[in-house]
Amino acid sequence: MGPRVVSSRRTFLGRTLLLVAGATTVARRAWAQASDYIRYATLSRPVIVPLDDLTSPAKAFPFTADGLTLASAAEPNQPVRLNGMVVRTSKGDNSSDHFKAVCLKCPHEGCDVEFIGDPGRVPEEVTTAIGKVSDPLYICPCHNSTFKIDDGSKLFGPAPRGLWRFHVTGVTETAVEIGEVEEDALLVV
Ligand code: FES
Repeated sequence: MGPRVVSSRRTFLGRTLLLVAGATTVARRAWAQASDYIRYATLSRPVIVPLDDLTSPAKAFPFTADGLTLASAAEPNQPVRLNGMVVRTSKGDNSSDHFKAVCLKCPHEGCDVEFIGDPGRVPEEVTTAIGKVSDPLYICPCHNSTFKIDDGSKLFGPAPRGLWRFHVTGVTETAVEIGEVEEDALLVV
């Protein structure tokens, strides 16, 4: 009888920890979606994108970024590589808020979203749901989740949230520097 009690207590404890971890993840997701408050983690090294590749609005440039999974991740402190895209969102000077970068991994089931600059390539299912499209979008080829290019927020589809964001930490005379990524992107890899 003794070992069975210990085993059942362990099972109970394990289930409780899983429930708490799940609730924490859901709460973090809801908090990130419900507000502009986002916690960022520093990348292993900054990504440098030449300004010459980002001269006009809605021009996108792909990059890869290296980071470490969070201490609270299922596999903590592991190197991870993230695919991203940076876009100039408006004309004008080269201040950092004119550039936005997102992680290309879809928060639904992990396919890589595509940058769609040609409105003619937007699937009918998407235009039926959100109306005619004139701006570039990110669209997931797996189930058509659709996201804005300026902040990665979700417009349509089964994804449970918008795209994870990178933080443009600086712009020099020649390059855009991306030095941080949304912490939650380092939990789910
Ligand atoms: S994996 Fe992207 S919408 Fe399903």
